[in-house]
Amino acid sequence: MQRLSKMFLVVCMLGVALYFFVLPEIGRSGVSAIPVSVVGDAKRGEYIATASGCYACHTDTKNKGKPFSGGRPFKTPFGTIYSSNITSDRETGIGGWTVQDFKVALTSGVSPKRRHYFPVFPYTSYAHLRDQDVADLKSYFETVKAVTTLDRAPNMPWPFSDRSFVGLWKWLYAPRREGATLVGASGEIPRGAYLVEVLGHCGECHTQRTALGGYTGEPLTGNTIGPNGGKVPGLRGLGGKWSADDIANYLVDGMTPDGDFVGGEMSHVIDHSTGKLSEADRQAIADYLLRPSR
Ligand code: HEC
Ligand code: HEC
Repeated sequence: MQRLSKMFLVVCMLGVALYFFVLPEIGRSGVSAIPVSVVGDAKRGEYIATASGCYACHTDTKNKGKPFSGGRPFKTPFGTIYSSNITSDRETGIGGWTVQDFKVALTSGVSPKRRHYFPVFPYTSYAHLRDQDVADLKSYFETVKAVTTLDRAPNMPWPFSDRSFVGLWKWLYAPRREGATLVGASGEIPRGAYLVEVLGHCGECHTQRTALGGYTGEPLTGNTIGPNGGKVPGLRGLGGKWSADDIANYLVDGMTPDGDFVGGEMSHVIDHSTGKLSEADRQAIADYLLRPSR
């Protein structure tokens, strides 16, 4: 009897090990190859990077860090993690990556070395990036000045520090938003939805999280445990108070219809991302947020 339970334990442990080590591989192989006909354009990529907020997260502005060289700390309830160096440096940045490595990292959160990334890197939103945009982003990052800086290891207690466990997190939370629900009548993701749900990853802050950092409840209805523990307002039902122009203007000047000014994390979003978007794109975001049916 005892031997049987021991055997059972060993089988279970083997199963768990297989599961966590095999899962990154499944995540990786589940990502379709970018067709060779898709050629990146650095100028377009720069705009996509702006709409996606790469700069704010990958630049340690507080300590005068070089653009995109990483090291910005993110305090989470599980410890502190640091963003990576994504400059064109071949050794410590991503200069040596293929465009497919880049797509896999952005859309499934798995590194070329087949390790899971922590979900502070918003790959659950970027999962629906179009191949053209991935290729454009890659071309842009090839033009970003190389900075030699090693990535800082996360400062987290075990088991959170173990990237294998991120496999479990992904299994629980990552498939939450099917691409299909974003696709409009034309078969494409409408521009406003793409800017909000995919590039702008607005739901990363504006959607409620569980204690484990997973998404819960209706998307974009607000979050009581936002970045740095602050409250983040919902983006649904703005219609009573905000016109489309109010929203489009807020995304550039940070002023609410009450005449208040934006503070906290949203001010970084405005400074580095939405404030630099075209008027048409800010209107598309506003129209998407105000659309009647959800
Ligand atoms: C909300 C903050 C945030 C945003 C926005 C963000 N990242 Fe990151 N990114 C991170 C963090 C944190 C890591 C490190 C994750 C880890 O160590 O597991 C990371 C890791 C990466 C990596 C892996 C690098 C390596 O050396 O393995 C790449 C590539 C990357 N990000 C590219 C991008 C690009 C391109 C964008 C914009 C389209 C972007 N990121 C937007 C936070 C962010
Ligand atoms: C890094 C976290 C974060 C991200 C990403 C983010 N927001 Fe915010 N947002 C906030 C916070 C925090 C506030 C509250 C700001 C304040 O208190 O002044 C806010 C406020 C707002 C408001 C004002 C709502 C109100 O009722 O006052 C709008 C509109 C808004 N965000 C839109 C967006 C859009 C659109 C995106 C995506 C393009 C986005 N946000 C992405 C954190 C974020």
